[in-house]
Amino acid sequence: MPPTMDGSRLDLLRTHAERLGGVDIAQLTNGDPARAEDFALRVGPVYANFGRQGYDRDALEALFATAVARGVPAALGALFDGEPVNITEARAALHTALRSDLSDAVVARDAHAQALAAREAMRALVAALEASDVTDIISVGIGGSDLGPRLVVDALAGVGPSRFRVHFLSNVDGQAAQRVLAGLDPRRTAVVLISKSFGTQETLLNGAILRTWLDDDSRLYAVTANAGRAAAAFAIPPHRTLPMWDWVGGRYSLWSAVGLPIALAIGMDGFEQLLAGAAEMDAHVLGTAPRGNLALWHALTAVWNRNGLGLCSHAVLPYDERLKLLPNYLQQLVMESLGKSVRNDGTAVTGTVPVWWGGAGTDSQHSFFQALHQGPDVVSSDLIGVIASDTPYVENHRALLANLFAQSEAFALGQASDDPHRSYPGNRPNTLILLDALTPHSLGMLLALYEHSVYLQGVLWDINPFDQFGVELGKQVASRLLPALAGDGEVADPVTRSLLAQVRKQQQ
Ligand code: F6P
Repeated sequence: MPPTMDGSRLDLLRTHAERLGGVDIAQLTNGDPARAEDFALRVGPVYANFGRQGYDRDALEALFATAVARGVPAALGALFDGEPVNITEARAALHTALRSDLSDAVVARDAHAQALAAREAMRALVAALEASDVTDIISVGIGGSDLGPRLVVDALAGVGPSRFRVHFLSNVDGQAAQRVLAGLDPRRTAVVLISKSFGTQETLLNGAILRTWLDDDSRLYAVTANAGRAAAAFAIPPHRTLPMWDWVGGRYSLWSAVGLPIALAIGMDGFEQLLAGAAEMDAHVLGTAPRGNLALWHALTAVWNRNGLGLCSHAVLPYDERLKLLPNYLQQLVMESLGKSVRNDGTAVTGTVPVWWGGAGTDSQHSFFQALHQGPDVVSSDLIGVIASDTPYVENHRALLANLFAQSEAFALGQASDDPHRSYPGNRPNTLILLDALTPHSLGMLLALYEHSVYLQGVLWDINPFDQFGVELGKQVASRLLPALAGDGEVADPVTRSLLAQVRKQQQ
């Protein structure tokens, strides 16, 4: 069994971190001019520069050696081959089979065949809706059944010939339903209920509102791994249901029929370009030795910042308005996957996921960047930009890129001053990721890069990135409290009891 990150490998990282303790990122970059090129990788239209991280060449070698010792190449093979890498639920995590065909394993080939069949059904459904008089689509789902499609639709709106307006409804708060429905015509709207389990409270409640609002079940569709429940709860027949499978995790599912809102927003061709982009990243990650492997480099950087430097906060800063939902999407992908305190064997582990958060530049510069530059806690970041502008506003795009590059430099290098109020400590490690242009293909690559980085962080920490038991307790308590909120029954906990008393008093 290879040593875990709490064992000798972690000590090795700490030794390198201690050795580099007094060394500024400025010294690293100035003292090693080739570093700016050598610490960068390009995969198709995705370029990433790690030159402003706080490791030097020796520490980097130690990181890659750690990856090999942890069995990263074999772990990638296991993922693509459909081995039960989700060990707590004894399941495969075959999101790669939704977009690429890189494994000879029977289970992976089977999954790919099912994915292709589902894609054909999806294509027919998109064509039927395009041929109808529907103008608006409401996608109802939450978490992994919402965040990916919502991000991609927002990012790529305007690509392709689609004529639909696509709306998203996730929150159980009735305000959300009211806002989405305002101004829509039920006779020209189709509703897609997306839920892997078809047991999610928010989606069932919102689905019921929308079914009543539609007053015509013929424009109600489902995407689910539980067609039986969709049929039972909403009478949605098989020909209006697209499949999901237990071998795809919700937060890894936008490449399946869960991406139906994407296909409706940008067209089926655009959706397939997105898949092709993800497939290009899959081929790179599976087929490239550790040292040149972009996802591994990204994952090792996360591990270095967390376990070497002890950082517990990571900001995602997209410098492109179209990617403003990327932080929301990545919060689920990363924190639901890696927010674990036990290893695969159930023993305790510390120093796993940091808090991921963020916002789009340059707006964020005028909000929370002060704390990033001069706050007491160092926050690492991914800064993401797009080289080509798709607007006619050339000056704005130059300013956008100037700000992006400036922030990366200022975070890393800082600026000394005799006046402590005007001093910038620097040494805020960051990775700069550039896309040549924002297209379905390049976005697919970027999202697949993050998926693989998350998986590899899970491998390095020896934790399961595919379960999410942590979200269950709150759901159970909420179901227990529901009758009491409807005025029926008491609750045991004294604080909840006083909260309920407040509600009841105000409602009398
Ligand atoms: O938040 C917990 C969770 O189970 C996510 O993992 C999932 O993406 C989301 O709820 C929605 O689940 P479903 O697709 O089954 O409705």
